[in-house]
Amino acid sequence: MLVSAKEMLEKAKAGKYAVGQFNINNLEWTKAILLTAEELKSPVILGVSEGAGKYMYGYNTVVGMVKGMIETLKITVPVALHLDHGSYEGAYKCIEAGFSSVMFDGSHYPIEENIAKTKELVEVCNQKGLSLEAEVGSIGGEEDGVVGMGECADPDECKMIADLGVTMLAAGIGNIHGKYPANWAGLSFETLAAVSEKVGSMPLVLHGGTGIPEDMIKKAISLGVSKINVNTECQLSFAAATRKYIEAGKDLEGKGFDPRKLLAPGTEAIKATVREKMELFGSVGRA
Ligand code: 13P
Repeated sequence: MLVSAKEMLEKAKAGKYAVGQFNINNLEWTKAILLTAEELKSPVILGVSEGAGKYMYGYNTVVGMVKGMIETLKITVPVALHLDHGSYEGAYKCIEAGFSSVMFDGSHYPIEENIAKTKELVEVCNQKGLSLEAEVGSIGGEEDGVVGMGECADPDECKMIADLGVTMLAAGIGNIHGKYPANWAGLSFETLAAVSEKVGSMPLVLHGGTGIPEDMIKKAISLGVSKINVNTECQLSFAAATRKYIEAGKDLEGKGFDPRKLLAPGTEAIKATVREKMELFGSVGRA
């Protein structure tokens, strides 16, 4: 069964650990993440970007696949299915399709419009028992072809959005999607501390979890981050393992090309990445 992310994130905030959001792109990704979460008894959030939703032929397909897999694999840990960086329209489509959590990323709108649209979605999500993530201050790097500059959120604007009753808040603190450039200035803990103070017990979300040094992750958690998003790192480990398999000529052995065999090493590599992150974030055994 899918659950809202509210309870798992409130527990994480109180317990000073973070729940990982791992983005899914296909069946192998989903299987790897669910099996690892179950093995480690960790709550988990499956993130779906709008691009990944299109790739998988729509949100209904995603909901069907995830629910079916939870049942067949006998997954008992809490799993939230969450729209990542949703548009206003995308959020409604996912609510309709049966997602248990959505992010409405209104960070590119003027703050008044971000507030108005977020407020409307708070009501809809509350009625349906879904969790809602809002964003203030855009996250840098590229997400589905959209390149953000990465800015630090204004703590007062964060409070305005938090006060609308969202479940969790993504505040830009110099984090970037994808690989961090060599000259990256690091996370702004000053901004994070100021936002944390303004929003109190609201769980904070750290996007761009790939490539942030471990000490920064731990410090961010100590300052109120309770959800950390990881996507690129799973893509990199999947690609590296698949490349190794092909370069070793394994795909040509035995019965010739077998997609199930070809995708197996990458699936195992995602499991290892997810395990490493869950251990780092402190979510192991928290289900
Ligand atoms: P990375 O791709 O940098 O891990 O970021 C993922 C993310 O924040 C998804 O919203």
